[in-house]
Amino acid sequence: MTGNLLYEGKAKRVYQVEGTPGQLVLAYKDDVTAFNGEKKDILPGKARLNNAISSHIFQELHERGIRTHFIKKLSATEQLVHQTDIVPLEVVVRNTAAGSIVRRLGIEPKSALTPPVIELFYKNDELGDPLMNDDHALLLCDVTHEDLNAMKAQALEVNRQLIDLFTASGLELVDFKLEFGRMAGSNNVVLADEISPDTCRLWDLETRENLDKDVYRQGTGDLLEVYEKLMTRLEASL
Ligand code: TMP
Ligand code: ASP
Repeated sequence: MTGNLLYEGKAKRVYQVEGTPGQLVLAYKDDVTAFNGEKKDILPGKARLNNAISSHIFQELHERGIRTHFIKKLSATEQLVHQTDIVPLEVVVRNTAAGSIVRRLGIEPKSALTPPVIELFYKNDELGDPLMNDDHALLLCDVTHEDLNAMKAQALEVNRQLIDLFTASGLELVDFKLEFGRMAGSNNVVLADEISPDTCRLWDLETRENLDKDVYRQGTGDLLEVYEKLMTRLEASL
């Protein structure tokens, strides 16, 4: 990719597209990190898998009527998206108890969370992305009540659509993280960033085996093998 590098994150680089203002190229990296970058590795092939899986999921959401920043997959490791200003908060939706909610609130691991639980985290690496409430978001994230309501409503709609999509592949959607942004000239928040096994917990519906980044976080399996298996299962249900 030859455009200007705008931003480099832990898992992606973001480039401007020459001659096409308002569009960006997301180039996935083979890097994998956990615990706010404390654990890291380079796994050749991860960029291709996350780009394929995230592109597939955004395409599905588009076909199901959800507006997102996604335009198209460009190459094995790159996708074209509409440029947005990212709102510095992460919206997490949880259907089953796992990860930080278990540690924070002492909830029985693997118990069903009905209705789904929505949590907001402040996107701030220095602070380790702390949990925050609506008032904190209003104070820190340049958002209105309407933006927060819109993000939560979209997150629940994405949850319904993803549960439908993943169930068809024999997968349980345990939880996931979304990010939103605003396109130039628009105040509306639109779904952005990626949806991949880096940002979701996905378990086999029957065995509850992990098919996501938890195998890397917990050191319980081979991330590339697991992501490949997930991709194959999603493709099989097309
Ligand atoms: P948590 O249980 O660690 O709070 O994670 C909840 C969900 O959010 C899980 O699906 C993984 C995802 N996630 C990210 O995408 N990025 C992050 O930095 C963290 C901590 C979690
Ligand atoms: N994304 C975070 C990191 O890269 C944390 C995580 O996903 O566990 O460190």
